Amino acid sequence: MTNPTVRITEVGPRDGLQNEKATISTDAKVAYVDRLSRSGCAEVEVTSFVSPKWVPQLADAAEVLARIARVPGVVYSALVPNEKGLDAALAARVDKVSVFTAASETFCRRNVNASIAETIERFRPVVARAKAARLAVRGYVSCAVACPFEGPIQPRAVADVSRALSDLGCDEIDLGDTIGVAAPADIDRLLDAHEGVVAPDRITMHLHDTRGTGLLCAWRSYERGIRSFDASCGGIGGCPYAPGASGNVATEELVYAFERSGIATGARVSALLEAAAGIAEALGRALPSKLAKAGLPRPSIDGSCQGT
Ligand code: HMG
Ligand code: MG
Repeated sequence: MTNPTVRITEVGPRDGLQNEKATISTDAKVAYVDRLSRSGCAEVEVTSFVSPKWVPQLADAAEVLARIARVPGVVYSALVPNEKGLDAALAARVDKVSVFTAASETFCRRNVNASIAETIERFRPVVARAKAARLAVRGYVSCAVACPFEGPIQPRAVADVSRALSDLGCDEIDLGDTIGVAAPADIDRLLDAHEGVVAPDRITMHLHDTRGTGLLCAWRSYERGIRSFDASCGGIGGCPYAPGASGNVATEELVYAFERSGIATGARVSALLEAAAGIAEALGRALPSKLAKAGLPRPSIDGSCQGT
């Protein structure tokens, strides 16, 4: 198989499940991750090593990582907010860790009980120790377009946080449209502000689809040279500390759009639909993904949809 053009990180088990009201069994999480591992996505963000008081849904992080069937070549990652989280992530043998902060002081405080500057200082030993352990490190910047409390965020302020994370040694900068407000012009402004700060090949876009603009923004990002995207199988997701946030761009929709346009992702829509069906059953409800509702075109409209 030719190397995929676009790299997909499946964030459903983390971003998707952290925001669910009902308790999801560890068995259901492991089954979801195992299906996603076989979908062809480059990376699966499995869970978070955060305080169980803050995010009870992911309290079984270590058990999930211990029980999944790891597929060679797939990167298994987890969020860590501090050194305690890193210790647990290392013990659970993750391949990669993600530190997370924001471009909004108010959101940052509500999400991790610290200022932006304090998070950067908190991450200094986390990133250094993760790199010493030869782990890849991602740095998330939430509220990259707008904050649920402060409103619009200046692209320059986002780029300042990206620079701070990059200076710490983060390999990758992940720009989060946490509450899904972006339109393509916002993507242009955001990426313009990152010129000379972080190269496009080190940026990942993390788009929530709250207002139906997620795929448009992903496409605009692609046109601007971005080749790494987060997405959530079934379109589930949202941050418990970001009121009004809903799910990420659905992975199967993103993969469908890219593959039908001749842009290889390595992922298979049919495998993603199986994973979506499994987690829909566990959650006991229909998922936001339109593709999960409609299914693949039958009979096939032509042979050009690779990856199905
Ligand atoms: P704090 O209360 O200030 O921390 O929380 P603390 O150091 O005072 O510790 C409080 C308690 O938590 C202590 O336990 C610690 O041991 C424990 P106690 O003595 O009370 O029993 N603790 C931990 N336990 C497990 N793992 C840890 C850990 N650290 C401390 N790593 C803290 C600070 C950062 C811990 C807390 O605010 C927290 O866990 N926040 C997580 C919030 C979160 O996960 N939000 C969702 C992810 S971000 C997101 O969704 C956005 C994203 O998708 C991108 C986008 O869309 O924009 C990434
Ligand atoms: Mg998110």
